[in-house]
Amino acid sequence: MIILGIESSCDDTAVAVVRDGREVLAAQVNSQSALHARWGGIMPEQAARRHLLEIGEITHAVLTEAGLHRNQLDAVAVTQGPGLVGSLLIGASFAKGFALVPPAKPLIPVNHVHAHLFGALLSQPDMALPCLSLIVSGGHTNLYLMRDILDFELVSHSVDDACGEAFDKVAKMLGLGYPGGPQIEKMAWSGRAGRFPMPVVMKNNNNFSYSGLKTHVAGLCCRNAGKFSDQQIADLCYAFQEEAFRQLVSGIDRHLQPQIKSIVVAGGVAANKRLSELMVLRFPDHDLVFPRPQFCTDNAAMIAAMGYYLYHEQGDNKKIFSDLSWQVFSNYFQPRAPAPNTLPHPRLL
Ligand code: KG4
Ligand code: ZN
Repeated sequence: MIILGIESSCDDTAVAVVRDGREVLAAQVNSQSALHARWGGIMPEQAARRHLLEIGEITHAVLTEAGLHRNQLDAVAVTQGPGLVGSLLIGASFAKGFALVPPAKPLIPVNHVHAHLFGALLSQPDMALPCLSLIVSGGHTNLYLMRDILDFELVSHSVDDACGEAFDKVAKMLGLGYPGGPQIEKMAWSGRAGRFPMPVVMKNNNNFSYSGLKTHVAGLCCRNAGKFSDQQIADLCYAFQEEAFRQLVSGIDRHLQPQIKSIVVAGGVAANKRLSELMVLRFPDHDLVFPRPQFCTDNAAMIAAMGYYLYHEQGDNKKIFSDLSWQVFSNYFQPRAPAPNTLPHPRLL
């Protein structure tokens, strides 16, 4: 089964074609980072306009790259939420139009956060279950107990900022540019330990928290009035990153149970090599699954891959995918809680 995936929840316009939920036939991402860099963060209105300009062209380019005609696609999967509403609307409206053109295709709405897990499954589709799955991105820091491919329970999450968001804000304060995660990682490699003590937050707590850490760095920046040397910035990046990741690794550790043999780490922050290093050190006996770098950050292959499993899960009830009346949603919902303004869906993931 060949599925066209479309992703536009934030500032990346992405389209991909995936066969049977695992074989990526073509995938492209148009990053808007350069556009938003001048504001040090995403300008939602500009993001939506850019999606509108690019989505048609990139879809055409992906189909050409895969050597496929529209008629050879079996279904379309698109991000329904969470994300920036303006951005989501462009992808969803385009996908609805694309699916409606005769011969009509089933249209599968997909939850962006959960789809990140499927970015990891693309590199290891036969991973041992149950597993613990951490989604660590610019918008979410969610830990799931994944019992089966579409059966996961949220066991822990950030009570305030997402981990990636804290990376972006700290990078902005240090004048490192946007997106901040890769810049902090780069600086931290030459940072020295023990120069900037960080507050240890959520030590014995079930959840994650990043706003205190971010505020601590903001305080340091104010007190030093931007007079850090390059070495001090590197030391500060190192200290911030280590504490940010200590929380993640400890959070996973707290939820490990003997039957869990594998751990998935996905989402933009999963691209960080220091995080994978720390995971390997802490969990040497577990099967650690990280997405390939291009499927860590936002992409459409993960949307198409999750769409494949959602489609098959419906059994004989596939008529549901001819419904185009659903709307996008901006906020994250716990697995299986229905999103507002959507028709009842047997299993909204
Ligand atoms: O998954 P993603 O592309 O978008 C969301 O769904 O949010 O994640 C983007 C986030 C940004 O906050 C970015 O700074 C962070 O992932 N990120 C990183 C790295 N690469 C991207 N954070 C730390 N280290 C990295 N190498
Ligand atoms: Zn994402």
